[in-house]
Formats: sequence, C-alpha cells, structure tokens
Amino acid sequence: MKVLGIESTAHTFGVGIYDSKLDKILSNEKAYYKTPAGQGIIPRKASEHHAQNANETIRRALKTAKLSMKDIDVVAYCAGPGLGPCLQIGCACASFLSAKFDIALVAINHCQAHIEIAKWQTKFLDPIIVYVSGANTQIIVEQECENKNGESFKKFRVLGETLDIGLGNLFDMFSRELKDEFGHGSTIAKKALRTDKYELMPYTIKGMNFAFSGLFSYAKKKIGRMDEALLCNSFMQTAFCEVCEASERALMLYEKKQIIACGGVAQNKVLIQKLDMMAKMHGAEALTCDDEFNADNGAMVAYAGYLQYITGKKIDYKDAWTDQKWRVDA
Ligand code: FE2
Repeated sequence: MKVLGIESTAHTFGVGIYDSKLDKILSNEKAYYKTPAGQGIIPRKASEHHAQNANETIRRALKTAKLSMKDIDVVAYCAGPGLGPCLQIGCACASFLSAKFDIALVAINHCQAHIEIAKWQTKFLDPIIVYVSGANTQIIVEQECENKNGESFKKFRVLGETLDIGLGNLFDMFSRELKDEFGHGSTIAKKALRTDKYELMPYTIKGMNFAFSGLFSYAKKKIGRMDEALLCNSFMQTAFCEVCEASERALMLYEKKQIIACGGVAQNKVLIQKLDMMAKMHGAEALTCDDEFNADNGAMVAYAGYLQYITGKKIDYKDAWTDQKWRVDA
C-alpha cells in the first residue's frame, strides 16, 4: 500500500509518500514559509504560501517516488492542531485528491504523526515520549485501553505539559527579542554553544507540568545587560532542565527503559544529550529520529496515515474536517 501524506499545520507545506510493502519512505518534499524579519508566522500569509506551493510540492513528491496519483491507495492530511487557515489548505488538497482519484482519506493528529515516525525510525516501541514543538511541549505515554466490547486499543495519555508557552515558540520569541535577522530557536542554540558558562534563571515546574513565562520575562530584562552567549546558554539550559526533570518523573513512574524526543525542538542536540544523560542514570536510553522527520514533514503524516487506515478509521472527502486545538489525548 502506498500512502501520500500532507502536512500544512504551520510554516511548512510538506508532502511525503510511504510504501508499506517496502516499509520505506519514498519521498519527503517540502515548501517552507519564511517569516518576515522580526515577526512570527502570519497565518493568512502562510496559508497563501501553502496554496501557491501545494500543486508543485505534490508533483515533486510523486516524481521523487517515481509514482503517479493512480499508484496511491490512501491520502492522509493533518487535521490539527495548528493554524486554522494553514490546516484548511492541507485539508482541501487531500479531500480534492481523494475525490478526484477515488482513494481513501484519513485525518491525522500532527503530534501523533511526530510520535509514530519517531517510533518507526528509532524502533523504540514502548517509550516515554517527549514531544517538543513550536506550540506544544508534552510528556506523553501510550497506554493499552479496552472498549465496551472488551476490544483493546492504544491511547496516548499526556502526563505533563507546558502551562503557558511551547518550547519552540519560547525560543522563537526570545530570538525576536534579540533582534536576530532570522528569529528562530536554532539561532539561540548557536549563540548558546559559544560558552559553557551558566547563570541561574527562573525555573518553574509543578509535578510533571512546567512553565516558561517567568524565564522569558527574566531573560528579556537581561538583554544588553548580560553577555549574549551566557544569556542564551542559561536560557536554553534552564528550559531544557525543566523538560528533563518532568521526563525523569514520568520515566520513574511508568518504569520505562526508553525515551523518545520528537518534534521540531528535538533537532537540538543539547536537549537529546541531556535526556540521554538523565535516562542512562536510570538504566534507560533516549533517542530521537533524523532532523528531516523532526521538522514538520509530509512523510510522518503518510506513515501515521497508513497506521490509521489499517485500523479502519477512514473518512469521506465530504466530511473532511480540521480542528485547531485537537489534542493527542482527545
Ligand atoms: Fe510539528
């Protein structure tokens, strides 16, 4: 079976193709909306970008996979969470392809797609999941449940999460405060790596929940009054330590031996090293997948779409929907 997945939740319009027979990603093409200098994503502008680049990105994904639409069995799209206007473009493209080529359609949760592709690549099948993206930062576990008919199914449970800002947005916001040309978390990470010095900053954690607003306000006041590398390193390390402490509690509570980090911020090697160091203290191990799959992409939607399709959860193109706030544990 060949599944074409469409990702359009935020800045990326991505199209990927997964072949279940080969258990292989055949293509993973992207068009990226770059935010104007000093600004965050403008949803309407990002959706215009997606609409303009959709056709070309789908064609490129098919060409790379050496397939045509007639070879595709299932179309999957991210129905949420994400920016409303951006979600609408992916939903419209997927339902159009489903109707025109008479192929099955499945709606995928963006967070679930990040988790499934990370499990697929790391081969960690029973982990504590540390999902770190722009708007979301959550500590998750997958649990076996039973329905009224006694049939078992798996469900994601959020054990802890950010009470205010997602890690990715926190870094992007701080980068814009520093007037970086390209306000992005990777810019903060590069500056942080210039030093190994660290200064204590506000640290907020309650059980397995955590918050970053106090850290952001404090660090913002320090701009221009503190060495920039020291400021960025202290800011980044403090935020990552909060996530590590919450993850450690989850690891202990559920007696797991594996941690998976996934989502855009999992491209930061400092976070993975920190999680792995903590995991090893408890006889466990932390891994992540390739950057290509941690950044938003269509391949993860295609793979999660395959998993969803084989459980029978397809929808009619006339009923295609989006939900900006669709939680992974809903
Ligand atoms: Fe994402």
